[in-house]
Amino acid sequence: MGGITVTEEKLIKLFNSMTLEEKLGELWQPMNRVYDENGVLTYIDVKANYSKEDIYRSGSTLNLFGTDRLRAVQDDHVKNNPHHIPLLYMADIIHGYATVFPNPIAQSCSFDLELIKESARVTAKESTLAGINVTFFPMIDIVRDPRWGRVVESAGEDPYLAYSVCRALVEGLQGDGLDKPYTMAACVKHFAGYGAAEGGRDYNTVELTENTLRNVYLWGYKGGIDADAAMIMTSYNEMGGIPSTCNKHLFRDILRDEWGYKGVVITDLFALSSMATHGIGDDSEEDDTDYLYRSLAEKAMTAGIDIEMGSHHYKKLALSVAEGKLDEKLIDEACLRWLKLKNKLGLFENPYRFTDDEKAKDVMLCDEHKDVARRLAAESCVLLKNEENILPLGRQSGKIAMIGPFVESERLNGSWVIHVADSVRTLRTVTEQRCSDLEICFAKGCSALGREQARESKRFGYTDEEHREEMIREAVEIARSVDTVVLTLGEISEQAGEAKSRSNICIPDVQLELFDRVYEVNKKIVVLLYNGRPLDISYINDRAKAILDVWYLGTMMNDAVVDLLLGEKMPSGKLSMSFPKTVAQIPVYYNHLRTDHRVEPYWSEYIDDCNSEPLYPFGYGLTYTELSYGETAVDKTHFKTDETVTVSCDIANLGDRDCTETAELYITDRFASVARPVKELKGFKRVYIPAGKTVTVTFEINIEMLKYYNENNEYVADPGSFYVKIARDSGFDEGKEMTRIFLTKD
Ligand code: GLC
Repeated sequence: MGGITVTEEKLIKLFNSMTLEEKLGELWQPMNRVYDENGVLTYIDVKANYSKEDIYRSGSTLNLFGTDRLRAVQDDHVKNNPHHIPLLYMADIIHGYATVFPNPIAQSCSFDLELIKESARVTAKESTLAGINVTFFPMIDIVRDPRWGRVVESAGEDPYLAYSVCRALVEGLQGDGLDKPYTMAACVKHFAGYGAAEGGRDYNTVELTENTLRNVYLWGYKGGIDADAAMIMTSYNEMGGIPSTCNKHLFRDILRDEWGYKGVVITDLFALSSMATHGIGDDSEEDDTDYLYRSLAEKAMTAGIDIEMGSHHYKKLALSVAEGKLDEKLIDEACLRWLKLKNKLGLFENPYRFTDDEKAKDVMLCDEHKDVARRLAAESCVLLKNEENILPLGRQSGKIAMIGPFVESERLNGSWVIHVADSVRTLRTVTEQRCSDLEICFAKGCSALGREQARESKRFGYTDEEHREEMIREAVEIARSVDTVVLTLGEISEQAGEAKSRSNICIPDVQLELFDRVYEVNKKIVVLLYNGRPLDISYINDRAKAILDVWYLGTMMNDAVVDLLLGEKMPSGKLSMSFPKTVAQIPVYYNHLRTDHRVEPYWSEYIDDCNSEPLYPFGYGLTYTELSYGETAVDKTHFKTDETVTVSCDIANLGDRDCTETAELYITDRFASVARPVKELKGFKRVYIPAGKTVTVTFEINIEMLKYYNENNEYVADPGSFYVKIARDSGFDEGKEMTRIFLTKD
């Protein structure tokens, strides 16, 4: 059964037939709990004083799964909605539906935009077959503080990489248009600045100047806008005291007027009502909470927020219009944008769109999709150290022991996963299947968390405290008896994600005890690091021979990890976020501004033993061969605004294994009207370099790459000197190792 079939002009006719209350209803997204497991509308939140009629007027819901349930809800809704307008189903599908891809922070370390785009296309196909047509993704908040739990959902610290990843994801999700098969609408989040929460504490205050907001934090979202993302989600945080969900400057001035965004804006879950938590609102009508929340709804609508997720205070705006406190035109604009999105998705033609149980049987977790997941998982891993070329494993490794709390773990999908980990094969299973020619034994060694992380282990149920000594002793005996130890260490996936900020980002104590006891009997240790954020790994970094960061990689995690351990795949990942030496150093990021006394004698440094350099910088990552970068050459040193500069560099593969290397282009604007970063990533290229060969990597620098927001927040490029370098990572000395070019006055 279909809904009404409309075209643009008929859409207007439908729209004009709607009452104000019906338009406000469309702008509400109730929680999925209003429907029972059979899709029957049951839960009516009388406390929140909304009725069945209210829900039949609503326009969408979120995180409702199961095609039978979705069809039942849609059938009932289309029948009972006053204009038979279908619901739009949305969900948090941020790195895969049935086929789970690496967590976004890991994916961004691949720097492989084509493969990231391909993973998004797969996600869109699986999701739309399952009846979901909007995903609350990409989450592209720039973040410089690894204490923040949502690093795991992000693309790290760099504006250019975040922009590029967001654009690739939206292009993958939305394909050639939302009218095309198996495409889904992207909802870019969280606008804006959510990742700059003070202290890395989720939802916390954000203090950004307009200039920093524009030169750093807005770029990630801009990648989605430039890919025509269908939706944008507000962020929970306030910025300068103004919650995003009522920030007119963000949503009207910048998003709509400056960027020309025509899509739909939705609040985060209950973010409108939670503005009262920020202490925003008009409480002049004593003890009148309706009046207070109506003032919040007026602020949000005035700021250009179209859809209210969770709470339903937009319903109160009918009174605001009647009282002349709100221009009904704003509601009309919001509702029309919303109906146009539904129409673009073809919901009026077919409320079920591409839902198809039969086809889903062949598509969900199919070999083609698992192959994409396996390739992206391998490319997401970052080799941080590899002394004595202890990796890859092979006959030269002798007897091997795989030890640690992740050896038999299946919980490796990370955060926001629709399906329980029903398809992640353990490291032990895959190793036993694929390494039969190697002598390998296994031991858990310890639980992931112990009594020292009592609050976390109680919350996540990870502790074998009563067997602690016995487990460690067994692992030590095995470590003593072998030549090489592969030790799995890190944080559990439940320690990363929303509301998962941590003040201590070290490896958990019980795991460090295991490490020490193993290290006492065997120094040949390869660490596999499981994490949803940069961790403080300094202690193990000083002792382990090798560290491979494997993050949480989803469905094909351990197939990919074994591909790398055996050298069947070459590590190629590069860090999308700096690893601090210690949490005390945070924030530490590569594109910091040029500040005073940062050079000899380093008076700006801490007077104790920690300087301002990270343990591992943005863009860093090794492989199983030695690469040598030549000097950065330019085809001209002086150029005009309408000219480009060709920058090139020879990269030699000195080893006996072919590899793929991400070459990174950095530019420094030495003098401007505001202090500028010591260097900024402005391009990157993945290049294949055969063993023993040299390839020349080139980039074209144009005026657009030199622009920034100046002291007046105008987007300009100033004539003057710039410095460029093609590098393996951001950890080079920008004062000594860059090539100067000069933009002349026109
Ligand atoms: C959450 C998150 C947001 C998510 C939304 C819907 O609180 O902040 O990222 O999309 O609610 O689940």
